[in-house]
Amino acid sequence: MNVLVTGGCGFIGSNLVKYLRRERPQWTIVNLDNLTYAGNLENLAELEGDPRHIFVRGDIGERSLIDDLIGAHRVDAVMHLAAESHVDRSILGPALFIHTNVLGTQVLLEACLQARVGRFLMVSTDEVYGSLGPDGAFIESSPLAPSSPYSASKAASDLLALAYHRTFGLDVLVTRCSNNYGCYQFPEKLIPLMIVNALHDEPLPVYGDGGNVRDWLNVEDHCQALLLALERGRAGEIYNIGGGAERKNIDIVRTILALLKKPDSLIRFVKDRPGHDRRYAIDPSKASAELGWSPRHSFEQGLEETVQWYADHPHWWQSVKSGAYRQYYDKQYRARLDTARP
Ligand code: NAD
Ligand code: TYD
Repeated sequence: MNVLVTGGCGFIGSNLVKYLRRERPQWTIVNLDNLTYAGNLENLAELEGDPRHIFVRGDIGERSLIDDLIGAHRVDAVMHLAAESHVDRSILGPALFIHTNVLGTQVLLEACLQARVGRFLMVSTDEVYGSLGPDGAFIESSPLAPSSPYSASKAASDLLALAYHRTFGLDVLVTRCSNNYGCYQFPEKLIPLMIVNALHDEPLPVYGDGGNVRDWLNVEDHCQALLLALERGRAGEIYNIGGGAERKNIDIVRTILALLKKPDSLIRFVKDRPGHDRRYAIDPSKASAELGWSPRHSFEQGLEETVQWYADHPHWWQSVKSGAYRQYYDKQYRARLDTARP
């Protein structure tokens, strides 16, 4: 199998590439990532020199590049994770989200259709369903009601992927997962931001009253679900993937402070995010019944391990925060690229 993973240098993508190398060592992984601020090749430093991990720096929206990659590497399947992924950034500037998430996905779908790629796994999000009240959970047929430019762009790409199945017969499946946590997450999302700020004794900005609820999914559990979906999922189907760990933001923040032995006085309740979804919760029964998947990690243990990972890897997040990680690509590749033959 030759699998094209897009966004393989981001948080979930880099965990997925390493997971696939471990679980399917005979597969070749072509990793297409254009290294936005969220993409960090250092996340994959342990794969340096691995002939079955082929990193290509490039944009999912560049059709000729995609055609070349699919042809040259005889790509059997695509796992599409590349995206602009941060809600707050989408509120500051929606246009890039439409460009990457909607137009970029369409270019990929079209290239896969033309090249008759065998399977296209679209990694979507539970945020396409919008906000839940205090009860119930999202099922795959719940109506889509995205709130932010990010989730609206993901809903568009998710529906486009399904349309390529229904209209053109491309073998597509869609996974909609809840909030992931784990190592290598860019420290602008809730959990790593709070850990890093607490380590620095800086204020922890909690939006609104801190009562918003997310259903937390360990990134390793997510990677397992993605592989199962790729191998066992039915074309044209949607699978909800959730960690079964609904927690209020404020409770997570307090737990992080307690784990790091820092005072609650670091918490600051700040102005709420516009259009802030109150609650997400996933019913993963379909993935459980059809894929044989269920989350293995307990949230409390996973959160503790994540806090420990950030505490043990100050170099990683310090270089991410300072922007120094961007030099890693240049160090690794610039000289080689400059001397490479066309
Ligand atoms: P991330 O922001 O950490 O990584 C995204 C990666 O995509 C980066 O490496 C970036 O360089 C790359 N990328 C962005 N634009 C690109 C382009 N035009 N061409 C090539 N590469 C590009 O995101 P993540 O948290 O790893 O999320 C991965 C996927 O999972 C996204 O599609 C996201 O919508 C989805 N998702 C994430 C979560 C979560 O909790 N993190 C939850 C639900 C769904
Ligand atoms: P985030 O990690 O941005 O993920 P998403 O918005 O995709 O769910 O945020 C998770 C929750 O944490 C969300 O309810 C917003 C909240 N939050 C804060 O309270 N403070 C922060 O600084 C951030 C980044 C998020």
